[in-house]
Order: sequence, then C-alpha cells, then structure tokens
Amino acid sequence: MATSAEWHEDYDKMSEEALNFSRAVKSVQEELEAVDWYNQRAQATRDDQLRRILEHNRDEEIEHAMMGLEYLRRINPVFDKHMRTYLFTKDDITEIEEKED
Ligand SMILES: [Fe+2]
Repeated sequence: MATSAEWHEDYDKMSEEALNFSRAVKSVQEELEAVDWYNQRAQATRDDQLRRILEHNRDEEIEHAMMGLEYLRRINPVFDKHMRTYLFTKDDITEIEEKED
C-alpha cells in the first residue's frame, strides 16, 4: 500500500505508466543523492582503504543513476528529445539551448 510520502497524488488515480515514471524518477534521485554522499565521505576520510571503497560505491551509484535515466529516456519522449540535444556534445551548453529555441 502506498504511503503519502511516496505519492503526491492519489495512487488510484494514476496510470501504471505514471506510477512507473514516478518510481524511476525517485530511483534516479536516490542514486544521485547517494553519489553525492559517497563522494563527500570519500573526500573527507583520511583512511585510504575506506576512500577507495567509498569511491567504488559512488561509481556504482553513478551506473545505477544512468540506468534509471536510460529507462526514463525510453519511456518519455521529452527526456529522449533533450538527451539527444545535450548529451555527448562539446559546444557551450547554453548556446545549444539558444540554437534550439
Ligand atoms: Fe544504487
């Protein structure tokens, strides 16, 4: 059963697609938050062994976040459009946006 912390709208009013979209967005959020936390801990520790573990864990979370983003790209055409516009480019990012407008 869904809790209010998980869903901002009535669970029963959302389609399966909307629920899966929300699940994927939340998962990416959580993965990126974990990336930041592991990175902060790796930067802060003076223990080299622990730093290597934390960096490894951070990099695993980056992989997980990218898997979630790819899922979102596949199910949502707006994600797909913007990822095709911005990712793997070399031009100034704001200039790319200006060209798009
Ligand atoms: Fe993860």
